[in-house]
Amino acid sequence: MRLLIDCDPGIDDALAILLALGADLPVEAITTVAGNVIVEQSTSNALTVLDIAGRLDIPVHEGARSPLFGSLPETSSSHGIDGLGGRGAMPLRTGASTTSAVDALLQASGKSAEPVTIAAIGPLTNIAQAVLADPEFASRIEHLVIMGGAIGAGNVTPAAEFNFWHDPHAADVILRAGFARVDIVGLDVTGQVFLDAETRERIRYRGTRASEFVYEMTRDYFDAYWHSHGVVGAEMCDPLVIAHLLDDQVLTFADAFVEVETTGESVGRSNVWPVARYAGKEANARVAVGVDTAAFFRIFLEAVFPDGGRVSSPSSAGRDERPSPGSDPTTRLRAAL
Ligand code: RIB
Ligand code: CA
Repeated sequence: MRLLIDCDPGIDDALAILLALGADLPVEAITTVAGNVIVEQSTSNALTVLDIAGRLDIPVHEGARSPLFGSLPETSSSHGIDGLGGRGAMPLRTGASTTSAVDALLQASGKSAEPVTIAAIGPLTNIAQAVLADPEFASRIEHLVIMGGAIGAGNVTPAAEFNFWHDPHAADVILRAGFARVDIVGLDVTGQVFLDAETRERIRYRGTRASEFVYEMTRDYFDAYWHSHGVVGAEMCDPLVIAHLLDDQVLTFADAFVEVETTGESVGRSNVWPVARYAGKEANARVAVGVDTAAFFRIFLEAVFPDGGRVSSPSSAGRDERPSPGSDPTTRLRAAL
């Protein structure tokens, strides 16, 4: 596998990058996009995270500063003013590659016979631009894993999840592009994976540069979830994509036809048609419908904070004592499917 991470760091993007590197995934390049923050900040933040991980050898390619059509949508960020909960202050952007994100995606996909996997954990603008620039691009990508969408409710509107809402046309282009293998990790499963306060405190005492960074960075994230959801904890959206690449038992999927609304009040909403239920529909993706939360935290904690033992046992880690926003969604999801 050659892994490209397309992201908008973003606290959970940062955690996803740390997980990928901590687990020694072959991250070949990072491409950045506007989303949680403006693209210049995304780029600087990606470099900050690579610096924390001691991996500034990995190139960062700056990408789209706005969606395919229209201007940057207004949104409040749960990631702090600089996108990393106050830890993104370092203006490391000068370390970015001079090759754009789209060119990097096109070049990487055509470079060798080694299959390319893309983890898309921000708005899908860069990848859509690559599809529009080269109709063969999709056929050269072995596996596309997307954090986005939802079978149920959204998070930025009642209908839409942030990444699909931010650039619905890009999501629409991607879903029509004919990628051979698309896995969509949506809010239905990420809503069951919350970093809880106890685990965050245990991370603090790991005593590594990464643990101090994660502890400080997630403070804003916890505050944002307390104010928005009334829960103590922070949703591990993007890291779940990486955990899926590390262990395909963490998530369970349903084959589905997925389309994204590009206009109207529900713009950005993902309409999911499980083919098991809607025989007339042809699947263009797999949609995650179940998650092993304990397995996720086992993978995450051991990879980002290696040293076995002192970090909380995965059985308690991540289980928010209070009902998470999507409590017991698996049953509800299966019924909906
Ligand atoms: O809806 C969650 C997604 O939006 C995550 O990728 C988060 O980083 C934000 O970009
Ligand atoms: Ca993201």
